[in-house]
Amino acid sequence: MNILILGSGGREHTFAWKIAQSDKCENLYVAPGNSGTAEVATNMDVGVTDFEAIKDLVLDKNINMVVVGPEDPLVKGVHDYFLNDETLKHIAVIGPQKVAAELEGSKEFAKEFLYRHNIPTAAYDSFTKETVEQGYAFLETLKPPYVLKADGLAAGKGVVILESLDDAKAELKSMLVDAKFGAASTKVVIEEFLDGIELSCFVLTDGENYKILPTAKDYKRIGEGDTGLNTGGMGAVSPVPFATEDFLSKIEDRIVKPTVEGLKKDKLPYVGFIFIGLIKVGEDPKVIEYNVRMGDPETEVVFPRLKNDLVEILQAMSNGTLNEIEIEIDERAATTIMLVSGGYPEAYEKGKEITGVEDVKDSILFHAGAQLQGNKVVTSGGRVMAVTSYGETYQEAIKKSYQSIEKLHFDKMNYRKDIGFDL
Ligand code: AMP
Ligand code: GLY
Repeated sequence: MNILILGSGGREHTFAWKIAQSDKCENLYVAPGNSGTAEVATNMDVGVTDFEAIKDLVLDKNINMVVVGPEDPLVKGVHDYFLNDETLKHIAVIGPQKVAAELEGSKEFAKEFLYRHNIPTAAYDSFTKETVEQGYAFLETLKPPYVLKADGLAAGKGVVILESLDDAKAELKSMLVDAKFGAASTKVVIEEFLDGIELSCFVLTDGENYKILPTAKDYKRIGEGDTGLNTGGMGAVSPVPFATEDFLSKIEDRIVKPTVEGLKKDKLPYVGFIFIGLIKVGEDPKVIEYNVRMGDPETEVVFPRLKNDLVEILQAMSNGTLNEIEIEIDERAATTIMLVSGGYPEAYEKGKEITGVEDVKDSILFHAGAQLQGNKVVTSGGRVMAVTSYGETYQEAIKKSYQSIEKLHFDKMNYRKDIGFDL
C-alpha cells in the first residue's frame, strides 16, 4: 500500500523508519518531512493542516493510508475532512476524529471525561473571565504549588505552576482577563498539585480493542536535574524501571480500560494512538493529561522496541481487528538524547551544518529540526536530532548515545548530560 505520514519531527522520522521496514508498504511519503525522512521516504512540500493540499496529494499519489503525527491536524478535524469527502472517505486515517481529539484540544473536556469515567486524576475546577473571582476563591482553598492550565492548545506552554497564592491569582488574571494565551486561555483549569514521578503510557485502539505499547519516560526541562524552562522533550527512556508489573496492571485496570470504554460510551470515534501522561503518586497512577498522538521523543524509544510490522498494526487499527494482533517487544532498553540548538527553548539560530552523521554506527539518528540543503544536513528547528541506542540496561543504552554524540557536531549544539539521572 501507499502511505502518507503527516509531520516533520523526530516522531515522524521514527514512524517513517519503522514503516519503511514493512513489506506491506510500497510507496512512502512524508509531508512535509525532514532530512531524516528523506532517507527512507519521499518528502512532499505540504503543510500538516493544509487539508486541500493534502487531498490533492493523496489523490495524486494513490495513498491508501494517512498516519497523522502531530495533534494540530487532528484537533482541526483532518479525519472528519476525509470522512466527509466522497473521494477520500475510503482512505484509512490513523488518528481520532475531531470530537475525540478534544481530549487533547481542551483540558476541561479531558477533565470532564476523566471524572465521568471515574479515572484517577487531580481534583480541579474551571473558570472563565466572568468567573475569575470564583477562581481566586478556589485557589484559596488549595495548598501550594498552584497548577493553572490554559484550556486550549498553547504549543506546550499553557501549563503554569506557581508557588505563591498571589502569583497564582495574578497568573489567572493574566490568562483569563488579559488573554495571555489568546483564545487558548478563554477558559482555565485549576488543578490540585500532584507530587510524584511522571511516565508516559501509549495505547493503540481501533475504537473497540486496545493494545498497550511499552512505557517511556521523557525529560521535559532544558536543564540538568530537571531545571529551567519546559521543552518539547530532551530525551527519553523505555522501559521505565519503576513501572513494575504490579504498577502496570494498575494502569491497565484503572486507566486504560476505562479510557477505551469511556470513548465507546461517549461515542467518541477513535482509531489511533492515545498517549496518557501519568504521575505515580505513592503507589498509584493518576492521569495528568491525554494526548491524541504519540509522544516526541518517546516514539524514538518506543518504536525501536516494537518487533511487529507497524503497517500490520496500523491496518488492524483501521479495520477494527486489533484483537488479532500480538504485540512483540524487544527486551532491550532503548534511550534517546535530543540534540538541540543553543538558546532553545527560547530564541536560537538555524541553518547550522550538522556533521558526523555518517560516522555514527552504534545509534540510530532520528532527525527532528533538520533539513537537507544541497547535500548538507542543516539545523532548522530547536530540537534537531534524537540519538537513540539500545542496551541490555538503560544505563548501557544511555552510554552508547553519549558516545555517538561525541561524533556529531553543529554550532551551539546543546543537550542534557543527565538523561536517566532520576531512575
Ligand atoms: P500537561 O501539559 O498537562 O502535561 O502539563 C505539563 C506538565 O505540568 C506535566 O508534564 C507535569 O510535569 C506538570 N503538571 C501538570 N499537571 C500537574 C498536576 N496536577 N500536578 C503536578 N504537576 C502537574
Ligand atoms: N514528549 C511529550 C510530548 O510529546 O508531548
